Amino acid sequence: MNSSMYYSDYLQLNKILGSQEPVSFKEGNEPAHDEMLFIIIHQSYELWFKQILFELGYVLKIFNKEKINDNSEDLNLVLHRLRRTMRIFELLNQQVSILDTMTPLDFLEFRNLLIPSSGFQSTQFRLIEATLGLQMDNRHQQAYYKRTGEGGFNQNDYAAINEKEAVQNLSHLINNWLERMPFFEEQFWQHYAPQYPDNNCPHIFWNDYRQIYKNSLTEREVNKVADFDYVFFNKIPEGITPESLINLRSSFSADALRAALFIMLYRDFPVFQTSYQILDALIEIDHLMSNWRHKHLIMVRRMIGMRVGTGNTSGSGYLEGALSKHYVYRDIAGLSTFLIERRNLPKLPDELIKHLSFNVD
Ligand code: HEM
Repeated sequence: MNSSMYYSDYLQLNKILGSQEPVSFKEGNEPAHDEMLFIIIHQSYELWFKQILFELGYVLKIFNKEKINDNSEDLNLVLHRLRRTMRIFELLNQQVSILDTMTPLDFLEFRNLLIPSSGFQSTQFRLIEATLGLQMDNRHQQAYYKRTGEGGFNQNDYAAINEKEAVQNLSHLINNWLERMPFFEEQFWQHYAPQYPDNNCPHIFWNDYRQIYKNSLTEREVNKVADFDYVFFNKIPEGITPESLINLRSSFSADALRAALFIMLYRDFPVFQTSYQILDALIEIDHLMSNWRHKHLIMVRRMIGMRVGTGNTSGSGYLEGALSKHYVYRDIAGLSTFLIERRNLPKLPDELIKHLSFNVD
């Protein structure tokens, strides 16, 4: 027994509970009751952000390994950490309703004292985005980040966000992991009986799949075959405008997207389960963050209407832009465009199933 262990010491409660200093309570200001809630809710968000970064850090460490052993505990632990991250985001989404108990008039009592600080400057939130794979170039209104002293970041925090972006992020690592999947190696397909033996695609499986997919499309959807060729085989459709091409372009490679689609198609096989669940968890985390952005936006509209934010953005206009732009795994979620009915799925060769079931690399 360690008799020096004491609850409040272990948790350093003197630091945490001594860290709420509402500015409106300071001399010369009119105390605003709701500022305490405002501080505590932000601090709890930041504590949970810390935990999320801790979980994602573990996930990065695994995916940074040169070889991930599919039959070891690695992928299961990744899944476990991602699921915990999801549960935390669910809680963070619920917390918005506590803030909703503060009325716009309550907020006005201390709002101006906060200028030019803002949740926009949450470095941990930006680090979560960067860890998941959001890059500065793809951020909405990236110039705002540099406005030191006017709602943007101070130089240290700005550097920390850029440093995080410069190292391999989760979306890169997932891309590399998917690219390494051995599904389409020739040795596994020697006994596969093609349904459509003419050769449009560089692989017999994809040749069949493309045809089955084409047959499954309605009249209005026939142009999706051209999208299929571009997304999975980098084949630029004839007569396409550069703008439409941008919509189809992905930060994931064609090789990685083929592997991801394959996992989604054959996810009912036990060998694909964990990989499928990992992709699904990443899509879910993207959705949960977007849900949070939406809830925050609605709360902000109610709280400040069309006024500018304390961080000097256009307020709800800025938040709407970030909401529609800050997805990371949209292209993986968008693979549903290319699914076919389960009963039409080509039967997988036994060699492939056998190899994957015993895969130790
Ligand atoms: C009265 C409550 C709140 C109001 C009125 C509010 C308002 C705003 C506004 C207007 C912005 C845009 C930047 C600006 O011009 O300031 C913003 C951004 C942001 N706020 Fe809040 N906020 C509130 C509560 C919170 C809470 C509790 C958090 C939790 C950490 C938070 C986190 C953020 C984040 C992360 C951003 C950046 C969002 C993005 O870029 O997608 N806010 N907030």
